[in-house]
Amino acid sequence: MQNKITQLFGIEYPIIQAGMVWASGWRLASAVSNAGGLGLLGAGSMYPDVLEEHIVKCKKVTDKPFGVNVPMFSPYVDEVMALCMEERVPVVTTGAGNPSTYIAPLKRAGITVIPVVASAAFARRLERSGADAVIAEGEESGGHIGSVSTMALVPRVVDSVSIPVIAAGGLGDGRGLAAALALGAAGIQMGTRFVCTHECTAHDNYKRAIVRAGERSTMVTGRSIGHPVRCIRNPMIRDFEELERRGASEQEIIEFGTGRLRKAAMEGDVTHGSVMAGQVAGLVREIVPAGEVVARTVAEAEALLSRLQSMVVQ
Ligand SMILES: Cc1cc2nc3c(=O)[nH]c(=O)nc-3n(C[C@H](O)[C@H](O)[C@H](O)COP(=O)(O)O)c2cc1C
Repeated sequence: MQNKITQLFGIEYPIIQAGMVWASGWRLASAVSNAGGLGLLGAGSMYPDVLEEHIVKCKKVTDKPFGVNVPMFSPYVDEVMALCMEERVPVVTTGAGNPSTYIAPLKRAGITVIPVVASAAFARRLERSGADAVIAEGEESGGHIGSVSTMALVPRVVDSVSIPVIAAGGLGDGRGLAAALALGAAGIQMGTRFVCTHECTAHDNYKRAIVRAGERSTMVTGRSIGHPVRCIRNPMIRDFEELERRGASEQEIIEFGTGRLRKAAMEGDVTHGSVMAGQVAGLVREIVPAGEVVARTVAEAEALLSRLQSMVVQ
């Protein structure tokens, strides 16, 4: 499974574990990197000194490449980017915003920079700004989302840029990897699937809520304020929906939503907290070691890819 993405990162398999707030620390990132994928630390829920600890621990337990995900809404973006440069983190991915101004300095520090995009136009713009690859993330993803499905977005982005494209959103097993390769992507990023692993720091109640969920269990809130987020439907999400329906102000909505993810992911309150997860939750049936997710995904994709010809000619 060597291709443009494995070569770009210096990894064995084109599988990236998404950087996720309150869910992806050094244990998960290093387990994925040690298994041959690329593990990412989710900087969005870490103060810079906490992130530094995770980087140091990650370096201790793996000599494989790993990365840091930086959501652009983080109040510590400048400090986090400076820390990544100082620590010579091999890869930085960015989410939820425009990282253009950070790309050149990160690259000068020898860091591979991969932004998340939800449109072909944004992918082209970031290619011009020097991005090494992009993650095309469809609206079926967990967390902050765009408005185009993975199936329609990935080939559009592939046709629009000449840098490698990583597919994200709705991918949870080897079928997802094979399908993404067929769409022209050179790798996949999985978030929801990696939450349900032993090494993920999210509370067990959170993981079990994903395992229980079906493909229709998620819904999107926050559209009224321009920040759509996909979560598993629960009483809190229904209250959120009601607030939006009655035209609550942005301030009221933000106040209602603040701290909800932490409540679910750290305290395990999956009734009043927000359980961010993608539609692929319907495919996640068990909590397993992260390395097993990588190995199974690769094995399934390889078996499927070698059978594809016979599935067409029967
Ligand atoms: C619990 C959770 C937290 C997330 N946090 C972040 C984040 O901090 N930064 C980011 O760029 N994306 C974040 N995402 C999105 C993921 O990076 C990834 O692109 C997405 O989960 C892929 O879709 P999937 O959930 O269908 O695998 C998060 C997703 C989940 C499920």
